[in-house]
Parts: sequence; C-alpha cells; structure tokens
Amino acid sequence: LSILRKLKWKLLPLIKLGFTLIGKNWNHFYSWMINRQERNNTIDNIIKKNKRSIDKNNKCLKGLYDISAGPEILQFIIEEGLTSTDRFFDFGCGYGRVGIPVIRYLNSGNYVGTDISAERIRMAKEYVERENLQNKNSIFFNTPLNNDLSQIAPSSFDFVWSFSVFSHMPFYDVEECLTQLKRIMKKDAMILANYGYSDRIHSTNISAYWVSEDDMIKLVNKLGFDYKEIEDWADRISPDRASYEKMMKLTLSSK
Ligand SMILES: C[S@@+](CC[C@H](N)C(=O)[O-])C[C@H]1O[C@@H](n2cnc3c(N)ncnc32)[C@H](O)[C@@H]1O
Repeated sequence: LSILRKLKWKLLPLIKLGFTLIGKNWNHFYSWMINRQERNNTIDNIIKKNKRSIDKNNKCLKGLYDISAGPEILQFIIEEGLTSTDRFFDFGCGYGRVGIPVIRYLNSGNYVGTDISAERIRMAKEYVERENLQNKNSIFFNTPLNNDLSQIAPSSFDFVWSFSVFSHMPFYDVEECLTQLKRIMKKDAMILANYGYSDRIHSTNISAYWVSEDDMIKLVNKLGFDYKEIEDWADRISPDRASYEKMMKLTLSSK
C-alpha cells in the first residue's frame, strides 16, 4: 500500500503536466485530484474515524479530517467579530467541517459555502442532513472552474472565510479569487483567510503553494484591501497545531 501511495505522488506531476498539455488549468487538475480522493468517502466515515482516533489515542485526528477543529474555528471567528445576523461566505468550504458549526450559530439563510470539489459539496450536504440543519436554509454550490462568482449578487456578505484554500492554488488564482470575493463583500465586511508563506517566492509542491508576505501584501493592496496579520491565530484555534500559514484579515481600503 505504501509503495502505491509513493507511486501516486510520483505520478501526480506527470498527470498535472498532462492536464496542461491538453489546455486544462490548475482548477481542472486540482478538482479532479480531490474528487478522486473523495469519491468513496462519506461524512459517516469521517465522523467514525474521528471517534476511533479519540478512543485509541485520546487524541483527535489532525488536518482536514479533524472535525474537532470546526467548533474551535467558529469560536475564533466569533472573537474576530462574527455575529449571528451576519451573512457568511465560506470559500473553499470542503465537507462542511467549519460550515456545520457556523450554520448552527447563524440565523437561517445566512450561510453560503462553495468548493471546487463536487464530492466535498456532496459530503457537506450529507453533513447538513445528518445534523438536521435543513431548516437553516444554507446554500452549498460547486465553484466554477474559472473561479467565476458572478452568480452571487454584489455586496451580499458581511464575512468571508477561507481556510487553507489560498495555500492550494497558484498566485494568479489567488488574485482572481480575491477580485471575485471583493465584489460580493459589503462595505464593512472582512475576509479572514490564511495562506502558505515562504521567503522562497511562489514555490510549490504538487498540492501546496507558498508566497512571501511582501508579495501577498502588494497583491491585496493593489486589489484595494487593507491587510492585517492575525499573528496568534494558530495558538487560538488549537494550541498544538503548528502552522506554516499566515492568517490575514482583509478589509476594503478606505483610500
Ligand atoms: C484544505 S481544504 C480546507 C477545507 C475547509 N476550508 C476546512 O477548513 O475544512 C481546501 C479546500 O479548498 C478547495 N478549493 C481549492 N481551490 C478552490 C477554488 N479555486 N475555489 C473553491 N474551492 C477551492 C478544495 O477543494 C478543498 O476542499
């Protein structure tokens, strides 16, 4: 099994090259990869694995499949100013790990989540049903592969949340997504988003991207945002979660 897994990581750059050669972009490749990974996964599986992990080691799973991060992240977002009457946009919502606690907290109709992976959107919808939250009238949709959010009315959200999403896309896609997100923010809204940072500018492995903080600040200023770093975010979300990501708070520039 471990040989197969290693082989998979060796083959992925070639598959990515194949996508490029037939004129497909990063989102085509990335959504294909995630959809393949999740095609047989269910929300019940994820929850079962979390329970097993707690039983065996008295410790939760780490990373994306650690469901315990959801309520911790909601607490963090509330401390940053989210109120139950806010309209909330979850960009790159995954299987709803953060979405579910946020939906429970918000007034009905105030949550919209989107993800480039149709399989993760399928699981997010399963999760809503499993938790009996259908009456909260949340919306989940699959992000178009060209990152186009024009189906959403301008100035519709008070809060935009994007967790570990910009660290999985090339810098030119970050620019495109931030441009789209800016359009759907209300005047006093904020974006909370983290990104992978490194002084080795715009470096990448097959699924993660890092940029320097200087380049990120230059980009967001150019797009008309004020940038503030939330330095203690990783400690506040979970003390034992080391992070190579920076969390930024973006507001519309008054200049
Ligand atoms: C590491 S996961 C984090 C998921 C979720 N935010 C969470 O914390 O549970 C990153 C997610 O971003 C999604 N994603 C990546 N690029 C995207 C894009 N351009 N538009 C929307 N979602 C994207 C991926 O499909 C993936 O589900």
